[in-house]
Amino acid sequence: MSVSTVAVDPSVCTPLPVLGRDVTVPLVTGGTITYAALDYAASAPALQRVWDDVAAYAPYYGSVHRGAGYLSQFSTDLFEKARRTVAEFLGCRADDQVVFTRSTTDSLNLLARVVPAGCRVFVFETEHHASLLPWRDDQVTYLDAPRSPRQAVETLERALADRDPYGPALVCVTGASNVTGELWPVRELAAAAHAHGARIVLDAAQLAPHHPVSLADLDVDWVALSGHKLYAPFGAGVLAGRADWLRDAEPYLAGGGASRSVARRADGGVEVEWHESAARHEAGSPNVIGAYAVASACQALTEAGWDALVAREQYLIDRVRAGLAEIPQVRVLSLFGEDAPRVGVLSFVVDGWNSSHFAAALSAEYGIGVRDGLFCAHPLLRTLLGTAPETPAECGAPSLNAIRVSFGAGTPDEHVDRFVTAVRQLVTEGAKWTYRTEEGRCVPVA
Ligand SMILES: Cc1ncc(COP(=O)(O)O)c(C=O)c1O
Repeated sequence: MSVSTVAVDPSVCTPLPVLGRDVTVPLVTGGTITYAALDYAASAPALQRVWDDVAAYAPYYGSVHRGAGYLSQFSTDLFEKARRTVAEFLGCRADDQVVFTRSTTDSLNLLARVVPAGCRVFVFETEHHASLLPWRDDQVTYLDAPRSPRQAVETLERALADRDPYGPALVCVTGASNVTGELWPVRELAAAAHAHGARIVLDAAQLAPHHPVSLADLDVDWVALSGHKLYAPFGAGVLAGRADWLRDAEPYLAGGGASRSVARRADGGVEVEWHESAARHEAGSPNVIGAYAVASACQALTEAGWDALVAREQYLIDRVRAGLAEIPQVRVLSLFGEDAPRVGVLSFVVDGWNSSHFAAALSAEYGIGVRDGLFCAHPLLRTLLGTAPETPAECGAPSLNAIRVSFGAGTPDEHVDRFVTAVRQLVTEGAKWTYRTEEGRCVPVA
């Protein structure tokens, strides 16, 4: 199928305005070109709406939860309202908490700190390192890579059936892979976890920017996400979900904001009464701009409408897949099969090419920003590539890592079309420029 034969429904084809859409970058071959940001899975551009909201609020910026002045009161209200907006966006249940963190990594590390003593944790080896690594060696069971959503559920059920049924357990699972973009059977995994008395946390870093996520509908216990992947790059993330483990644990960080009262004890130490609300794990001055930006993005995506956003993204996915399918040297990586439902994230390898070289040429010769490497998911890449990944020293030699293209609500058709054309040209005609290896990466010779 050629790119131009993919059916287009014009009603779903308006990208949301994002910052940087008019930025031009130099080409190594001469001239400049509008930058095609196709690395949304790493960090998505800010929505214009988020930027405008933050700019409008900035003059009113003030301290949160401290300060009697008008702007402190205003900022505190804004921060707490942001919490409610995020709770609504994530379909939180009445007694769920929304904790503002720095990122998904931070959220999952926070959860790892609050799991009750003796808790067993189950994680598929295919996860991003942020989901794979926060757990202690003696509490975690790594599950083998499943080759279908059904196998994922069966693998989890088997592992849970083997554990001590009376102890606490937690399953940590991604909603959409940061490597293949494939959707995981979250609802079914949640049902399996609960049927075996376990809880489940959803790593929604890659899912939330592309699909609606509801704790209540999916019946997951917690959700973690990052603002910078949700078009709100102001340093905030979210952990939302069940209050009990959060309330029963020691604060993630000790300090002001997390403590309700502190008094000297007779023995010379201090007696601390910690908050029971989300503030317990938000010690220090909160990132009100980051939280507000996340809430603004939640509102913008909701107002844009998920049906239209998902339909448009599917149209872009189909366009990229159809284009790449016509290039026999390209192999798109997949765990669940090439037609498995996915978000706008695709990784691939190109026969005979070093991925770093290929990505460098896409940037230097076409103004396209993608990512190459192992995407902080080394065990998954090992499974997908069928070998131990490594990067050879010279950029001319084939590599055992991959290239990832990712896009979303702000991506115009031209970016994905330019990408497919560039891949085809590089494969058939080769690079137009010379590249050399510098600190393990390919860069154009000056
Ligand atoms: C699936 C997934 N989980 C977690 C993370 C970590 O996100 P952050 O770097 O924002 O903490 C990422 C980042 O790429 C990711 O793709």
